[in-house]
Amino acid sequence: MNRLSALDVHLTPADADRALREDARAGLTATPKELPPKYFYDARGSELFEEITALPEYYPTRTERALLEESAAAIAAASGADTVVELGSGSSAKTRLLLDAFRAHGTLRRYVPQDVSEAALRGALTALGAEYPDLELHGVVGDFTKDLGFLPKRGRRMVAFLGGTIGNLRPRERAAFLAHVRGALEPGEQLLLGTGLVIDEPTLVAAYDDAQGITAEFNRNVLHVLNRELGADFEPAAFTHRAVWAAEDEWIEMRLRAERAMRVRIAELDLEVEFAEGEEMRTEISAKFQPEGVRAMLAEAGFDLVRWWADPERRFAVSLSTAV
Ligand code: SAH
Ligand code: TRP
Repeated sequence: MNRLSALDVHLTPADADRALREDARAGLTATPKELPPKYFYDARGSELFEEITALPEYYPTRTERALLEESAAAIAAASGADTVVELGSGSSAKTRLLLDAFRAHGTLRRYVPQDVSEAALRGALTALGAEYPDLELHGVVGDFTKDLGFLPKRGRRMVAFLGGTIGNLRPRERAAFLAHVRGALEPGEQLLLGTGLVIDEPTLVAAYDDAQGITAEFNRNVLHVLNRELGADFEPAAFTHRAVWAAEDEWIEMRLRAERAMRVRIAELDLEVEFAEGEEMRTEISAKFQPEGVRAMLAEAGFDLVRWWADPERRFAVSLSTAV
């Protein structure tokens, strides 16, 4: 790491462990069973996600990258931020396009990537430190649904939330999250948001159920996490990956289907749960949006949409908005 680089852990291993226990107990005893998606992202999960971003079927990453190539200079000019904060930054791969544009614009001083995955964050910071020796880097390990208190108080800030990750929040969580972000900003500061758009079902489903089975392995990774962290005895191979388009909700639902009846013991929770043959446990939603829906959700949270970029096929959009 360069001398301007630091990593703050806002989510200590003890906090993370407590949250996992609570979430696993609540989700595995609910009907239908459900697990929150942030637990996909241990070191292995973050690696698998990077593999997903390169899959031929997974159009979001490359579409958003092309949109950022097109828009980064205009974003830097419109924002003039000296501090870019990124939530759920992962490998920060596409963010380099923004950092380059802000640097060329001459205002950028500091980049604050935040992610729940310490492994992904450390990897990103090490690479960025070498590539941007003059940039102040301040990584934050944390949960963006819980606490945005880490946001630097000084400077002119832009918050980036890319990858369509906003779609992984349920409507109510999504509104609360955006209101939180708005509350952490001053009027005139920006939010840069990446959103997947509603498109045809076969393209959507293929993006979340690739031919090589990488997404299936990613989905089952959450079972490996529960086995390791909570002493559970899930047999990941007995679960198959399902990606289903829920037309009414306009989201893709990721599920794990128990291929036979099973009893699973979660030793550290002192809990046993039964799965019926064919029972499906929900692991993730990935909501897609109508353009008007993006504007409306931003407006409701106190953001004014300033500019919008979408690809010619209208699969994905990047929007820049200002806190009002
Ligand atoms: N922004 C990157 C990564 C998207 S994948 C891109 O566009 O490619 C979603 C990222 O959000 C992962 O890196 C994951 O670790 C992180 N994440 C998921 N839930 C989170 C939460 N509750 N708090 C913080 N980070 C989270
Ligand atoms: N934020 C990504 C998305 O919704 C995460 C993701 C991609 C994902 N593929 C997945 C989550 C498969 C669960 C399963 O596009």
